Amino acid sequence: MTIKHPLSEFKNNRLLVSPSVLACNFACLADELKAAEEAEADMIHLDIMDGHFVPNITFGPPVVASMRKYTTLPFDVHLMLVHPEQYVEPFAKAGADHITFHIESECDPAAVVRQIHELGCSAGITLKPGTPASAIEAILPEIDMVLVMSVEPGFGGQKFQPEMLKKATDIHKMIRKIGSHAHIEIDGGITRDNVCEAAAAGVNVIVAGTAVFRAPEGIKAAVAELHEAQKALPKEAPGK
Ligand code: DX5
Ligand code: ZN
Repeated sequence: MTIKHPLSEFKNNRLLVSPSVLACNFACLADELKAAEEAEADMIHLDIMDGHFVPNITFGPPVVASMRKYTTLPFDVHLMLVHPEQYVEPFAKAGADHITFHIESECDPAAVVRQIHELGCSAGITLKPGTPASAIEAILPEIDMVLVMSVEPGFGGQKFQPEMLKKATDIHKMIRKIGSHAHIEIDGGITRDNVCEAAAAGVNVIVAGTAVFRAPEGIKAAVAELHEAQKALPKEAPGK
């Protein structure tokens, strides 16, 4: 199944929930995907780690291609790789709809964005907690989404860094200033207790691993709670 639902199809005044499978039971991926779909998740967040850019390893294109057969939800692929340009095509062919890579990786960001767009996917740029918002200024007009990391990339289940809300607000202003309709996503330590603060900072795409797949109240209730943050999105956001 090849599905292309690039993020540019969504309005950026709608709050989207993208559960991260990093927190799910990898022996039951098909069931976990079904549960996320039944819970009305908007996308599925896939964390790809190479053991070099981050000190952890996850999964590659064959696993993504297998997952593609079990859900029609868009795949929101987060590449934590030293050389994203080598892997954009295999992941696009495996069924990615949206591909985000790190500004800190060793690549020409504009060339990687072009590569992603030529493969029919939307493109995102992300930055680690220690990287200033100014680092993405040059690439901002080209991209469809900025992912603000609210933990050090590499592992699920870490504590949310509240200082990243200010960075999200700054990026929201930068996006509006250039007249872009890029989405803002946040990733790391998001729960029902901080999701509204993130939305108020202009974030409209919520990644959550632990808070969805390991929620005591169940996946459906957890996704519904995160969707509640729609009410906290800034009113001035015109949406596209
Ligand atoms: C961390 C990953 C995250 C992670 C989030 O490097 O990018 O997507 O799965 O997990 P939680 O929501 O548990 O912090
Ligand atoms: Zn991620």
